[in-house]
Amino acid sequence: MSKKMWGGRFAKPTHPLVEKFTGSIHYDCRLAEYDLLGSMIHVEVLRRAKLLKTGEASRMYKALEALHANAVKGAYVSDPSSEDIHTDIQNKLERSLGELALKLHTARSRNDQVAFASKLYTKMKALEIGTLISNLIKALGSLADKNKGLLVPAFTHMQHAQVVRLRDYLGAYAEMLKRDAVRLDAVAKNVRLVMGAGAVAGTPIDSVKYEIKSPGGLSGALAKSFNIHPVSNSIDAVSDRDYVIDMLGAMAIVGMHVSRLSEDLIIWSTKEFGFVSLDEAFATGSSLMPQKKNPDVLELARGYSGRLYGNLVNSLIVMKGLPLSYNRDMQLDKEPLFDSVNIVSSELRVFAELVKTLTFNKANIENALEDESLYATDLVYYLVDKGIPFKTAHSMIGRLVKHSIDSSIEIKSMSQAELDKYSDKLLRADIIRLLNPAVSVKSKRSIKR
Ligand code: ARG
Repeated sequence: MSKKMWGGRFAKPTHPLVEKFTGSIHYDCRLAEYDLLGSMIHVEVLRRAKLLKTGEASRMYKALEALHANAVKGAYVSDPSSEDIHTDIQNKLERSLGELALKLHTARSRNDQVAFASKLYTKMKALEIGTLISNLIKALGSLADKNKGLLVPAFTHMQHAQVVRLRDYLGAYAEMLKRDAVRLDAVAKNVRLVMGAGAVAGTPIDSVKYEIKSPGGLSGALAKSFNIHPVSNSIDAVSDRDYVIDMLGAMAIVGMHVSRLSEDLIIWSTKEFGFVSLDEAFATGSSLMPQKKNPDVLELARGYSGRLYGNLVNSLIVMKGLPLSYNRDMQLDKEPLFDSVNIVSSELRVFAELVKTLTFNKANIENALEDESLYATDLVYYLVDKGIPFKTAHSMIGRLVKHSIDSSIEIKSMSQAELDKYSDKLLRADIIRLLNPAVSVKSKRSIKR
């Protein structure tokens, strides 16, 4: 059992079952890098406040920096018997620095530490996921470029509706993902990194000492915008987990979009549709049926959206009944947060590759585009152009379509005399020209490109 940060008041050792029940090191060890950065900044605050001499501060900073470098490399090894990552770091520091390390926790509590570390984690992961989203958007764009000019049926209610460009079909997913990127960027921007809350009431250190612009330890885009502010409400600072919920919400929506894309691809890759083929490297087989090429990646992404929603709801419920300020219940925010970050990051990575390898089966798509019902609306517009009111034209073409279905005669095979029964304005030559995917798509002029 490793040393606790609060042993003094207790004469009895903690029951081993309680140790196990309350410990979080097995998952919050992921926060090592972020907690260490927080500690490095805290050392600077203590130096400014003259609670650490310059020499002491630099020794402590260096020790923390070395641990931080290890954590960034994924080489930080935590002791599984530590209560949590904050305890683990403190214990490591005591082993390397001796008594000096006992000063690190001056004017600090794990309550503000964990809030800082998880805020920084959230901010960085929101930015990282934003980049992964951009990669998937790019992959969808190159898939559209590769299949330039390809037209596909669009569906409403999963029934044939009208013809659209594949570029726009894929572009619809790009639009969703662009909104996701904006949402994640907003999550990152909303995370305000504050210090000085202490356990709940603030600390004796003057707020100006907590005003730190671009502290060291970070590289990349975040480094420039990474400023520490003095806390403006210490009670809220230790009790707020809105940023976790914002992040889980934004990730749940990403998951929903990836799940819808998966569903479209699952349907389009069925034998019945046969619009798209998955690359073998992104499909799986069956242990029993030798012929199978299954879309398991897509199915898992669809399934994972359930976990992403669950993680969001889980955190909302944990938080809803909590009185101010910090309560240990809040320790439970991390597993859903980490889980969702893992799921979304890995699915975005795999989709950016999977999407690039998709191949569209033009013959099957062209066959589907033969369905005249896809052009029924165009025939209505044609009659409207000839001065027939829309509702009247809709009903005329509706009756024509019904006749075509009931008699199994295609509209393009009907004689002029037959067409005349539905409207004397339906000129056969025009109708044949309109029953065409390229003409249909070209006639839609409302989309600003
Ligand atoms: N491991 C805890 C968490 O994640 C750290 C805070 C514990 N604070 C306390 N006063 N027991 O929330």
